[in-house]
Amino acid sequence: MADPQRDPGYPAEQRDAVYRVIAERRDVRRGFRPDPVSPDVLGRVLAAAHQAPSVGFSQPWDFIVITDRARRERIAALAARRREEFAADLPGARARSFDALKIESILDTPVNIVVSCDRTRGGRHTLGRRTQPQTADFSSVLAVANLWLAARAEGLGVGWVSFFDERELAAELGLPAHLEVIAYLCVGYVSQFAPEPELATAGWARRRPLSWAVHAEEYGRRGLPGGEPMDPLAEVIAAIAPPDAGAMAAARERQDRMTKPRGSLGELEEVSVRLAGLAGCCPPPLPEPACVAVFAADHGVHAQGVSPWPQEVTAQMVANFLAGGAVVNAFAAQAGAEVTVVDVGVAAELEPVPGLLPRKIAPGTADFTEGPAMTRDQAVAALTVGLEIARDLVAAGNRCLVTGDMGIANTTASAALICAFTGADPVEATGRGTGIDAAMYARKIEIVCRGLAKHRPDSPDLADPVGVIAAFGGFEHAALAGFILGAAALRVPVILDGVIAGAAALAAVALAPDAIAACFAGHRSAEPGHAVTLSYLGLRPLVDLGLRLGEGTGAVLALPLLQSAARALRDVATFDSAGVSDKT
Ligand SMILES: Cc1cc2nc3c(=O)[nH]c(=O)nc-3n(C[C@H](O)[C@H](O)[C@H](O)COP(=O)(O)O)c2cc1C
Repeated sequence: MADPQRDPGYPAEQRDAVYRVIAERRDVRRGFRPDPVSPDVLGRVLAAAHQAPSVGFSQPWDFIVITDRARRERIAALAARRREEFAADLPGARARSFDALKIESILDTPVNIVVSCDRTRGGRHTLGRRTQPQTADFSSVLAVANLWLAARAEGLGVGWVSFFDERELAAELGLPAHLEVIAYLCVGYVSQFAPEPELATAGWARRRPLSWAVHAEEYGRRGLPGGEPMDPLAEVIAAIAPPDAGAMAAARERQDRMTKPRGSLGELEEVSVRLAGLAGCCPPPLPEPACVAVFAADHGVHAQGVSPWPQEVTAQMVANFLAGGAVVNAFAAQAGAEVTVVDVGVAAELEPVPGLLPRKIAPGTADFTEGPAMTRDQAVAALTVGLEIARDLVAAGNRCLVTGDMGIANTTASAALICAFTGADPVEATGRGTGIDAAMYARKIEIVCRGLAKHRPDSPDLADPVGVIAAFGGFEHAALAGFILGAAALRVPVILDGVIAGAAALAAVALAPDAIAACFAGHRSAEPGHAVTLSYLGLRPLVDLGLRLGEGTGAVLALPLLQSAARALRDVATFDSAGVSDKT
């Protein structure tokens, strides 16, 4: 029996209607009809907006209803100017897909509504606003949400346009200086509402699963109510499966029918076959847009004198990447890829700037000649950082991930990881890194040997791949391993740069052997440990130019090769379709 003390909630049918309007509300940009919106309907929708919750009941919103065509034309011109500025800043592949997106319907809708916020309304003692002044803006946003939902129930589409210079727009609307523009909404009747966000349908971004967003008690303990706590690493490993044999066979068969002699695209044919196997379809989607994630961290083993460069260079280069001044930025600009930088363990405080993802596990690892470089918990945390970044970049619309790294002394840690995973001799796996003299090179080999002796294969340190990463790894190695696993689980290709990414791939493949299907070796680095790694992994490098810079440079150079391989498989005519005679 129903508890008389407890409000019963709404009857099922009405409850369903509430959830339905929430699920079916859409941001609408196209397909608007010119029909006018009656004052009655507009009044109901505005009344719904006006019932939103607000901090201290301050009701900081006002609604400016715009219908005048000349005014809307002036406003549309303001948005168009800012849109062009935004487009000019986008990397090539993103700019192309942005061009195709419709981001406003100012002139296509009969009514535009501006929701503003008065942050001073209610005076200085407004409850809850003193310590958190932003709550005034939040309250106006809630009015927008109410308006959006009520409009959906009325069959009215609403599109939110945020491509304005706020004060420019405020001036056009005669807003007093103390009022902020919160939202510019284009409102009109539509024939139908899209089932999914248009940006998802266009492949710009994907919806994040609810389970990534719900945490139990503390941030990071992900899991849905009533479910088991989620272990992101275990979940990602479990999701990694072998390539699709059917799609690979279809790709091989198509390569043989394409208007070119069989096998004449050499290794690129195999690349296209592997891309098809990974995507599970033939032709596979083009690997674009692409994003390079440069994982940066410092290394305790630097104290052993294994690099001629001071440790500060890691942080200085991070600043250079963010300013767009490094080689990887130049190569990425050429290839139309985005560069993002992840601080996963730089031994310096980094200023927050756009493009930097602050995910520091600790300010550098410990010296692996004295003990494990990191704890197991830190290794798992860094792996998780990497896989979450892979997910977020794919959710943001990227279809190809590219590894980058920065960390003074990370070739020493890489050599130790390569020896531990492949059993290679330290002399064979250790290289001259950024360029060191004979004495420092001999010392570097000795340090790798000392580390390997310290964490002997029978020690608990090396009992499993996570233990190996913890013993020797940099945080960037661990995060890169997670990044590779994340890409593999999402079946998105990941182009590996040189020896650091190679060492991370060894860890990833030790954790999930099928992850290899997502890995493409961008290039062969001049570091000797890289050749050992590639042959152990069975990967053939696409570019071999004697590069030994890191940062992701070699991998970015290979990006157009992957894209060309996929495009050829998709676009090239077959003998039948083009009416070209095959060889007899
Ligand atoms: C704060 C905010 C600003 C937005 N700005 C724009 C915009 O300038 N142009 C646009 O086309 N969509 C804009 N949108 C709409 C989002 O792209 C859209 O809500 C999102 O893709 C999810 O789709 P859905 O609303 O249909 O679920 C904005 C949405 C919000 C919440």
